[in-house]
Amino acid sequence: IRDDPQSASKYIADYIIERIKAFDPTPDKPFVLGLPTGSSPELIYKNLVQSHKVGEISFRNVVTFNMDEYVGIPREHPESYHSFMYKHFFSHVDVDPANINILNGNAPDLEAECLTYEEKIKQVGGIELFLGGIGPDGHIAFNEPGSSLKSRTRVKTLAYDTIIANSRFFNNDLSQVPRMALTVGVQTVLDAREVVIIITGPHKALALQKCIEGGANHMWTLSSLQLHPHTLLVVDEDATLEL
Ligand code: GLP
Repeated sequence: IRDDPQSASKYIADYIIERIKAFDPTPDKPFVLGLPTGSSPELIYKNLVQSHKVGEISFRNVVTFNMDEYVGIPREHPESYHSFMYKHFFSHVDVDPANINILNGNAPDLEAECLTYEEKIKQVGGIELFLGGIGPDGHIAFNEPGSSLKSRTRVKTLAYDTIIANSRFFNNDLSQVPRMALTVGVQTVLDAREVVIIITGPHKALALQKCIEGGANHMWTLSSLQLHPHTLLVVDEDATLEL
């Protein structure tokens, strides 16, 4: 528990840097990092970019897999997760573009796109560290309430609550928010060797309470991490209001 989103983000950025350095990645043995979007991770990316600028960390031998992407908006749309990632992270660090993996929400065959994504993760030896956030309904990636805890990368219809929550990025106009997304599954996240989640703000307090004080269940998908042997939740004071 940290005082505020700033210190929670700094803690996570430092943690990730430490992990990558300890791993000592090479082209043959890259560090495989799962990445999220959303406003919560923005400050983490800022800290990572800053540390890169001062020469503290290189992402050259880091392979990235993003959690999710909207279906049906162009890749160049300012609110696509592709655009988000370049704007906040990839354009500012030395990551090799060939090492960046983001689901293509405009693929002609979405199911094939999801299967290929899982295959790619397997081929690089699995994800070392999956960083994530949560929605106010406790979802990880776009694993909305009701997602199977065994789910893998797939097409998902967004919950109405998520459409409302994300409308702030689409001129507060619900009709502009995509209805579907591609997302890694709960099991895809659970397969990572380590999972780190940021949760900040009073609007996430109920989700945090349900997910750590309730049982592991498919309605609050973050709760599935209770089944993971190596999970770290970094939260701010506001997010603990319901504990
Ligand atoms: C979207 C993403 C999630 C993210 C969530 C929270 O739903 N698919 O991966 O955790 O937003 O976003 P924010 O941090 O903006 O609250």
